[in-house]
Amino acid sequence: MTHDARRLARLAERAAARAGAFLRTTTAPDADRWTAKGHHDFVTEVDRSAERQITDDLLRAEPDSRILGEEFSPIGVDLAGLVWVVDPLDGTTNFLHGYPWWSVSIAASIDGDLIAGTVFNVPTHRHYTAWRGGGAWCGADRLAVSTIRDPSHALLGTGFPFKALEHLPRYLDTLRKVIPRTSGIRRAGSAALDLAGVAQGHFDAFWEMQLAPWDIAAGIVLIEEAGGIVTDLDGAPATVRQSGLVAGNPWMHKWMMGQLHHDR
Ligand code: IPD
Ligand code: CA
Ligand code: CA
Repeated sequence: MTHDARRLARLAERAAARAGAFLRTTTAPDADRWTAKGHHDFVTEVDRSAERQITDDLLRAEPDSRILGEEFSPIGVDLAGLVWVVDPLDGTTNFLHGYPWWSVSIAASIDGDLIAGTVFNVPTHRHYTAWRGGGAWCGADRLAVSTIRDPSHALLGTGFPFKALEHLPRYLDTLRKVIPRTSGIRRAGSAALDLAGVAQGHFDAFWEMQLAPWDIAAGIVLIEEAGGIVTDLDGAPATVRQSGLVAGNPWMHKWMMGQLHHDR
């Protein structure tokens, strides 16, 4: 069966909008109701309810599809056919603390190829949506990565390795090199929004040592359709798998790879 990438993008956008409406009107639970999934990694009933709703919406629209979602199906989903890659709430820590920067991220993959994606910044009401060959969009605005080539003018996004602490030494080495060479670095707390920020040209580059498929799937489509580059830390194309990530406009991506690997 062939799928229309644009239609899948719209289905994802609609499901994200409904989940966003639910999340926006939901009060973050008190700290005694957060469950630790891992080191510094909390989940609540709110994340689960949002994923349930997104799953219902997507499976109703595409009954033969499957869900790779953070809360209910994080492992064991094979990528044959149409698979939705879902982070029902990216930036849970921000959400739980009332810090208004979090999102819903949904991508469509066919046989492992990402063909559509949407990231919904719920607090700002902005949808970032892309599909293969169709460009990346925020409403009527077509997104394009920045054209900054000089690192000293660049603004970078990043995420700290606060869960997988074994990555901390290498991360800090890179940070030490990058801070004096760029004009600013932001750690905003939602990787999906960081990647939308690269697609939009707000960030000239981004890196994080380890991310999950649902953090990055929609962002990969957004950046590639906006003319940027997204790879793992070794330069292999980013795909639906857990990996480190380097993203940026073509020049700043190359520069960032150099910082991670050899330039001193
Ligand atoms: C997290 C956010 C954060 C990133 C973490 C992710 P979650 O997702 O994207 O920016 O640094 O690695 O796990 O847990 O809020 O969905
Ligand atoms: Ca996430
Ligand atoms: Ca999440």
